[in-house]
Amino acid sequence: MADAVVDTVASVPVAVIGAGPAGLMLAHRLGRAGVDTIVVDTRTRREIEATQRAGILEADAARDLVETGVCDRILREGREHEGIEVRFGGRAHRIDFKALVGESVWLYPQTDVFIDLADARQRDGGTVHFGVSDTEALDITTTAPRVRYTAADGSRHEIRARYVVGADGSRSMCRDLVPADRRVRYGKEYPFAWFGIMAQAPASAPELVYAHSEHGFALISQRTETVQRMYFQCSPDESVDAWPQDRIWETLQARVAGEDGFRLKEGPVLEKTVLRFRSFVQEPMRWGSMALAGDAAHTVPPTGARGLNLALHDVKVLAEVLLRALGPAGAGALDAYQPRALQRLWRAQNFSSWMTRLLHTPPGGSGFDLRRQSGELDNVLGTRAGRTYLAEQYTGWPVRSRG
Ligand code: DHB
Repeated sequence: MADAVVDTVASVPVAVIGAGPAGLMLAHRLGRAGVDTIVVDTRTRREIEATQRAGILEADAARDLVETGVCDRILREGREHEGIEVRFGGRAHRIDFKALVGESVWLYPQTDVFIDLADARQRDGGTVHFGVSDTEALDITTTAPRVRYTAADGSRHEIRARYVVGADGSRSMCRDLVPADRRVRYGKEYPFAWFGIMAQAPASAPELVYAHSEHGFALISQRTETVQRMYFQCSPDESVDAWPQDRIWETLQARVAGEDGFRLKEGPVLEKTVLRFRSFVQEPMRWGSMALAGDAAHTVPPTGARGLNLALHDVKVLAEVLLRALGPAGAGALDAYQPRALQRLWRAQNFSSWMTRLLHTPPGGSGFDLRRQSGELDNVLGTRAGRTYLAEQYTGWPVRSRG
């Protein structure tokens, strides 16, 4: 394949594999600095738009999307949330982000971030090819890497670049290009998954509700006035077919129930999916002329919704170092990428796995495990220091203080 004849050859400073939020935001940031990119993705735009992902943006990430001119729809259609509710032991505990740490988050689904970015690329004349196949990155350890792909119409193309970015998601092929004996993969599997639904119903609460109960975890999120997103802990091998609507509502209601009589507003279930999850990191995040960004380099469990925020942080740093690397500083400028990205990443890995363990019921957990977990929930929710810690982690860490 590598030596086959191609129909066209294009040259750009940076070729990007993956047109999710990481790849598109990187292209957008580089485009604003006058650097051309070509972005390719095996999925069609429609396929990416139809994938449900998390819905929480850190205030910094939301601000960046507005200030870099991606779109200000977030300010009109997104909703600023100044706290969350955590239900435990049948009682509601509010974590007041604004009062505790002076920050907030934005409820704005990743699908909308993707749509805004794809529209912005189109508006700005950026090149993005969706629905390609046979993508290969070649010569990445040289100063003249190439990307080859087959377009949707069957024609073969080559992109010649100075740098290649692998932003090709949690099943990345780019990360496999780092030789096995030169990479390290850190990971952790969890003994449960999330059952996610979209339901046609009004919101049950003004803010997101995270619930820990003896029956397991539940999360009540929102999408629009009439459509809500909810999740509950299930077994990783759960089948959606075993869950008729009544059973879903019964399960969710039992997990959020409490002495205040709180009940979810029910409605038709529009969509159901089982989301398996894990923690994963690959190092190095750069190999020769290729850098990895977003889920291609790392994934976090969904609790706390860090994934998109981490991807946007990666490409903020990466755009900066690529611009330097394309100038007189040369490739050495890329050395700054991994340490800056990883520092934030491991904080987020810790937070996501901590919040997951805090709120889920481990299958087969001993009496000691369950009582220790209750003690931890009391410590976190019942002390100002505990609530402040949760608020600080959930709202993210200012990019500026990370240098
Ligand atoms: C959503 C998902 C999350 O994992 C989370 O922690 C908060 C919100 C969501 O899909 O809205």
